[in-house]
Amino acid sequence: MTFLTREPQRARMRNSLPALQKVPAHVAIIMDGNGRWARRRGLPRGEGHRQGTENLRRIIRAAVEFGVQIMTIYAFSTENWSRPRREVLLLMRILEMVIDRELAELHDEGVQIRHIGELDGVDKRLARKVLDACEFTRDNQRLILNVAFNYGGRDEIVRAVQHIVRDGIPPEDISEATISNYIYTSDLPDPDLIIRTSGEFRLSNFLIWQGAYSEIYTTETYWPDFDREQFYLALVEYGNRRRRFGKTDEQIDAEYRNGNGKRAGQR
Ligand code: FPP
Repeated sequence: MTFLTREPQRARMRNSLPALQKVPAHVAIIMDGNGRWARRRGLPRGEGHRQGTENLRRIIRAAVEFGVQIMTIYAFSTENWSRPRREVLLLMRILEMVIDRELAELHDEGVQIRHIGELDGVDKRLARKVLDACEFTRDNQRLILNVAFNYGGRDEIVRAVQHIVRDGIPPEDISEATISNYIYTSDLPDPDLIIRTSGEFRLSNFLIWQGAYSEIYTTETYWPDFDREQFYLALVEYGNRRRRFGKTDEQIDAEYRNGNGKRAGQR
């Protein structure tokens, strides 16, 4: 099975949704609720992760369809190491399996895979596969898929600061832009929208620097059930939000009138 197959294009035509008025360039997703999805059905947690992986395939395809340019997914946090060993190993195996089975198809569909997080402490063979997958797809342009794996937002900031100090940048020259230049996503815009499934309202150490002005969308739906239509509804809601970036409504209105409202107020 593959993440992006041709057949669904026909399904999409059968199933067309009205065009979105405003599409976020960068969507980040906390794919939460796999375990509870499984427990509700009396299944092992691993089955929840397997179904969650199937769903990821659907949502990547939908992201391409809706015109999202960058998607960042929280696959494994630095805190997830404290889960039962069996579950940690399973999550590692799932990532390896996704790379083995899906890489060619993702590449054909123009998906550029990137990794954010640290590969130290990750099994060497898996680490190699992650790096090779990134290298193999590096010139693709249709969708950048950032996989946050062994990722922690605070850890990312600490590493950025260490790097800045090592580079000898004087304190008075350090600005927000400096930090932005030293984090994993330095060449990407911040996420416009962060989606969290399963009724939780936390960032859980995900993109805490980049998410300062992101719109946040939460839904009760567990990740394995968060389908294309629900993703679409999240994007519709994003389109209805007014991003003020700390300014007043009146200022934003004026910026729109002057023709520069699209990114009004953005850093
Ligand atoms: C949160 O659900 C989910 C995760 C910790 C892992 C997310 C991974 C996938 C969806 C599989 C795809 C993975 C890769 C590596 C590409 P949870 O287990 O915390 O659910 P719960 O809160 O209901 O227990």
